[in-house]
Amino acid sequence: MTEFIFPEDFAWGAATASYQIEGAYQEDGKGESIWDRFTHSRGNIVNNDTGDVACDHYHRYREDVVLMKELGLNSYRFSIAWPRILPDGKGRVEQKGLDFYKRLLDALLEVEIKPLVTLYHWDLPQKLQEKGGWENRDTVKYFNEYVQLMYRELGDFVPRWVPHNEPFVVAFSGNFLAEHAPGYQDLGKAIQVAHNLLLSHGMAVKGFRESGLNGEIGITLDLNHVYAASDSESDRLARNYCDAFNNRWFLDPIFKGKYPEILMNLYQEELNKIEIEDKDMDIISQEIDFLGINYYSRAVVSYDEDSFFKYKQLAPQKSEYTAMDWEIYPEGLYDLLKRLNRDYTSKPLYITENGAAFDDQLTEDGKVYDKNRIKYLEKHIKAAHKAIRDGVPLKGYYLWSLMDNFEWAYGYSKRFGIIYIDYENKQRRILKDSARWYQELIAQNGLKDL
Ligand code: FCB
Repeated sequence: MTEFIFPEDFAWGAATASYQIEGAYQEDGKGESIWDRFTHSRGNIVNNDTGDVACDHYHRYREDVVLMKELGLNSYRFSIAWPRILPDGKGRVEQKGLDFYKRLLDALLEVEIKPLVTLYHWDLPQKLQEKGGWENRDTVKYFNEYVQLMYRELGDFVPRWVPHNEPFVVAFSGNFLAEHAPGYQDLGKAIQVAHNLLLSHGMAVKGFRESGLNGEIGITLDLNHVYAASDSESDRLARNYCDAFNNRWFLDPIFKGKYPEILMNLYQEELNKIEIEDKDMDIISQEIDFLGINYYSRAVVSYDEDSFFKYKQLAPQKSEYTAMDWEIYPEGLYDLLKRLNRDYTSKPLYITENGAAFDDQLTEDGKVYDKNRIKYLEKHIKAAHKAIRDGVPLKGYYLWSLMDNFEWAYGYSKRFGIIYIDYENKQRRILKDSARWYQELIAQNGLKDL
């Protein structure tokens, strides 16, 4: 029998994000967000789905906390919707929005589930977008005001903070690839947004230290381990470009206080036009307490002279893929954890998201037999265990996601949850087989292979 038992105080959690689950998009004084605006414009989202109702978590959070407890989670990662707190992004505070998160935190703490709070999971107040959004340095200032308010109001109840989730996706999917709100295709804009996000991250860390609060603060990055398709020099160069684009553009400023040169050369024209102040890199590289990692898949790349970024991504043929067409590659998680620990930080690491979408079927007996998801999770959790065994200070694992939800550009067509949401039947919650499996895993603090 092989055992994969985790350290005693390991955090076993699940993750969600406000826009993806809450619904109640106009309730209790909430302001419009860029995702409300983006989804309400036809053609942006599969089936023109919106987050107007989503999982209706805003009204059902109590029921959801009961389910979390039933699963045995000892931690829960969720995000706060900035426009619920400050409908215009700045200025007037909406007490009812604040009260919602206080009630949620109370409910969690009552059953001893430790919150991990994300402050920005992409729902920027639309009012700020009208002034340029994250491209405008003023947004950094307003974000800081919002963050300070959260520290003051919620600081006593939150042990762990993640001001930003996946700045790469915010900057590039939203402003260069036009797949996400606000929907632009402009490289210069994306680079400026990335810089302002990083700067606002640094300011949030600085403000946290100054607040004297107990607790820890970090950032969540979406990281891809990148492999060269062959050993050739050109493919290795392609790997370096892809790695710099996806990973190092964020890792290097945070941990080394500078942008990676290989891309600075490529971005030269854009960098000449954007606003970066001398002291910014010092602020960005404030010491953090932990790094959050969202890992779903790897990238295999070969050299491509014609592409701007000098690489093209391949889809290895023998591999298995999820419903997102993401390759299943758990070894990438191990390699990534080792690399982060070796090249960037000896601080604690958390997997703040990992999981998979599959075409789940609700059967007539009212069950969801999602064997493929269990297999995916099991392989990744074993890879995480191996990294711990090999000395990586990994402290927690948050499964994406607690429940099926609004998957951004894919709307409700992709299901990532371990709890099935029956959207047609009043958002009924049904525990999938994977939820039962995770429950057992948490109960025994790991896996036992017979
Ligand atoms: C990540 C996002 C999360 C979810 C997963 C599938 O990029 O942080 O909200 O959509 O992907």
